[in-house]
Amino acid sequence: MFLSSPSMIPQLFSIQNIKNETRDTFTLELVSPDKLNISFHAGQFMMLYVFGIGEVPISISGNPTKTTKLLHTIRAVGTVTKQLKTMKRGDVIGVRGPFGSHWPVDESQGKDILIVAGGIGLAPLRPALLYILAYRQRYRKVTLLYGTRTADDLLFLSEIEQWRARLDLDVYITVDRSSKEWRGNVGVVTTLISKATFEPSKTVAMICGPEIMMRFVSVELQRCGVLVENIFVSLERNMKCAIGLCGHCQYGNIFVCKDGPVFAFPKIQHLFGKREL
Ligand SMILES: Cc1cc2nc3c(=O)[nH]c(=O)nc-3n(C[C@H](O)[C@H](O)[C@H](O)COP(=O)(O)OP(=O)(O)OC[C@H]3O[C@@H](n4cnc5c(N)ncnc54)[C@H](O)[C@@H]3O)c2cc1C
Ligand code: FES
Repeated sequence: MFLSSPSMIPQLFSIQNIKNETRDTFTLELVSPDKLNISFHAGQFMMLYVFGIGEVPISISGNPTKTTKLLHTIRAVGTVTKQLKTMKRGDVIGVRGPFGSHWPVDESQGKDILIVAGGIGLAPLRPALLYILAYRQRYRKVTLLYGTRTADDLLFLSEIEQWRARLDLDVYITVDRSSKEWRGNVGVVTTLISKATFEPSKTVAMICGPEIMMRFVSVELQRCGVLVENIFVSLERNMKCAIGLCGHCQYGNIFVCKDGPVFAFPKIQHLFGKREL
């Protein structure tokens, strides 16, 4: 029965542009030949289907206030993502979605916002930041803390320069390992928290990155006085159906595909460190 559900049938999208972000990470710009508009919430994901190869969940990295094209920033790690990396402008893939929960950008109006990203975790957070910047007057202090392994792993470099030039956004960047050219902070992303200015009791934090990073960041933020219910993280888990039917992403009564991937920290903190999460 569910096979006839529109959420199980991929729509055809063609690749309009490809931008290499780093050695192994690239951004695909997809458009619908039928001129379908894709409205989505910041933090949601799509299932990208490479015909004859397979399907993968990938977050939307574009601007939720611009719905004519779909952006995905992808790290080539395995069968499907490596195949996506070989694709060219004009090639067609299947797309299902958008799926899942989202960052609480509307609910956080009037608050200080801390966006904390590790590595490719900036991709699912970029829509939240772009949305907040589009309605900047609705928020108090807005801060981006971003850490990668090396300077070569930094995503969206030219955009980061524009963000840094803004007076209404604080941007702090760090790398785990320095290089001859690097003049910025060195150390894990948690070391940036003490540099940022925010009022803990009025702060909403949105965190995405490796699980261990999200765990340490949320512990540190709570130590600083950020309320645990105002801390949000995005989880990754293997997915097949993406709509809560196959059980692939299930942990107890939680389905990461439909209850997540964005969760308030108290709801999933007991799952951190468990196998496959
Ligand atoms: C909700 C959600 C959102 C996601 N958003 C993004 C996104 O925006 N961009 C993105 O690049 N990925 C994202 N991912 C991860 C992405 O789905 C996986 O990287 C992808 O499924 C790997 O598929 P594959 O067929 O290329 O690799 P596989 O052949 O399945 O795996 C190959 C090898 O890579 C390893 N591997 C798998 N995933 C990762 C990973 N994330 N990092 C390092 N090694 C890995 C596997 O353990 C395996 O050894 C997201 C996942 C979820 C659940
Ligand atoms: S992916 Fe099938 S239940 Fe979540």
